Amino acid sequence: MIELKSGSELEILRENANILGSILDKVVRRVEPGVTTISLDEYAEELIVKADGKPAFKNYRGYPSSLCTSINEEIVHGIPGERAVDSGDILSLDIGIERKGFFADFATTVTVGEVTGQVQSLVDVTNEALTVGIEQVRPGNRIGDISHAIGSFVEEKGFYVVKEFVGHGIGRNMHEDPQIPNYGEPDTGKRIKGGMVFCIEPMVKMDDKSTVVLDDGWTAVPADGGLSAHFEGMVAATSEGPEVLVRGGS
Ligand code: MF3
Ligand code: CO
Repeated sequence: MIELKSGSELEILRENANILGSILDKVVRRVEPGVTTISLDEYAEELIVKADGKPAFKNYRGYPSSLCTSINEEIVHGIPGERAVDSGDILSLDIGIERKGFFADFATTVTVGEVTGQVQSLVDVTNEALTVGIEQVRPGNRIGDISHAIGSFVEEKGFYVVKEFVGHGIGRNMHEDPQIPNYGEPDTGKRIKGGMVFCIEPMVKMDDKSTVVLDDGWTAVPADGGLSAHFEGMVAATSEGPEVLVRGGS
C-alpha cells in the first residue's frame, strides 16, 4: 500500500530533506583528490547529529556507516574507509537522516579533479535521467511512467540502467511502497496520487553487465567492471506537479 502524506507530515519531510540537502552540500565541498571516504563519513555523521537527526543508514540491516561512498565502478552501498579518491574518479555519495519520526534519503555523484569526456557524459546522463523521472511524478500517472521515462532515456543515450536496485517510497520508514525500477513499461503499475513521496534513484552503467555484491556484503559493482553513476531525489506528488524536496545534481 502506498501511503499518502498529510500536509503536516509533508512539512516535516520537506524540512528534513532541506537539512539533508545542506549537509550533503557541505560534505561535497570537502571532496578533492586525496580525501579519504571515511573522513567524509565522519563529517556527514557529525553534521547529521548536529541537526538533531540520526544517520538513517547506520546499522540499517547491519550497514556500518552514515554515508555510502561508491567510487568509479561501484554502483551503490560502497562502505567508507581509508581509500582516498584520485583525480579522474567519480564518487557517489548517498546519505540518509531520521528526524522527528521521518526519513530523508538522497544521493549525488561528483567528479574528482579532471575526468574524461565520456565519464562526464555518464554522470550528466544519470543526472538528467533523474530529471526525466521526476517529471513523471504527477497525479494520474503511474509508477511505470517514471520507470519507463528513466529507462528509455538512458538507453537512448547509449548507457545501461542497473536493474537489481530500485527507488522507493519514503516517510516514517526509509523504504516504503512502491518499488520504483529504473526501467519498465509506460501506463503500468500503481496510480500516482497527491501526497505520495518517492525516492527516485537512477543507477547507470557504461557497460551492459549484471550486478554483483563484493565480499564486504554491501558494495555493488558490475560483474566485469565498467563505471557507474547514481543520483537520487526525494519528490512529492502534488496537484501542481512534482515537488522536489531534495535531489542530487540539478
Ligand atoms: N539510498 C539507499 C537506499 O535507498 C541507501 C540505503 S544504504 C543502506 O537503499 F545502507 F542503508 F542500506
Ligand atoms: Co534511497
